[in-house]
Amino acid sequence: MKIGLIGYGKMGKTIEEIALQRGHEVVLKIDVDNIADLNASNLSKTDAVIEFTGPHSAYNNVMKSLEAGARVVCGSTGWLEKFDEVKKYCSSVNGTFLYASNFSVGVNIFFELNKRLAELMAPHEDYEISLTEIHHTQKRDAPSGTAITLAEKIIEKIPRKKTWVNHLSDQENELEIISERIDPAPGTHKVKYSSVIDDIEIVHTAHSRKGFALGAVLAAEFVHNKKGIFSMKDVLDL
Ligand SMILES: NC(=O)c1ccc[n+]([C@@H]2O[C@H](COP(=O)([O-])OP(=O)(O)OC[C@H]3O[C@@H](n4cnc5c(N)ncnc54)[C@H](O)[C@@H]3O)[C@@H](O)[C@H]2O)c1
Repeated sequence: MKIGLIGYGKMGKTIEEIALQRGHEVVLKIDVDNIADLNASNLSKTDAVIEFTGPHSAYNNVMKSLEAGARVVCGSTGWLEKFDEVKKYCSSVNGTFLYASNFSVGVNIFFELNKRLAELMAPHEDYEISLTEIHHTQKRDAPSGTAITLAEKIIEKIPRKKTWVNHLSDQENELEIISERIDPAPGTHKVKYSSVIDDIEIVHTAHSRKGFALGAVLAAEFVHNKKGIFSMKDVLDL
């Protein structure tokens, strides 16, 4: 496949390494010093682009790529207030878009465990629920996109939780997400149910960025020759 990388930082470079190992070609690399190269002519040479820049640039990069007819895989977090707009635009142009707050295969299995645990815990109101996410100090957004995905699933399954907050909370209807920034953590997420009798915890700890990068390349391989809006659930057939 001919892959374009938008964002050539920590993730972009790791994705390039994995893409080359899997026999792909990287035909376009965009970063802040060559933004003008993100144009329809260059995008038309790609089979898919993989966008990992950050909260402030993701929306524009994704829209520009969809406009040019590129298949887009996006991993930037912290911009999801515009997610529905992108999905609507993608459908209107019969485009291809895949977003994941976390591309790691292990985390996507962890998402399924989180959902099942929330279903089991829903009737047990004596358990307080909390979420903790730990990342490196350069991470710009908090809470992490992965923590938000976990929280949204818990809120969907547990009626007494109505909203998440990014601080300690003693409000019954609030689900607290605690964000810690410690180097060099690539990403740890913990969901804890706690009562006076016992605690139940599930934890996912990423050991390196390679898991995210491999997932992003698998996603690009998946969208190759497909139209529509997809997630890692489709890629991993979960
Ligand atoms: N979904 C996932 O699995 C996953 C995993 C890890 C990181 N992330 C997210 O991916 C994003 C990037 O993470 P990172 O660790 O690679 O960060 P990074 O800071 O190392 O890299 C980001 C790169 O994007 C470039 N950039 C900034 N604005 C740009 C623009 N307008 N156009 C092109 N390039 C631009 C920066 O110069 C930098 O090189 C963050 O939002 C992070 O939270 C997601």
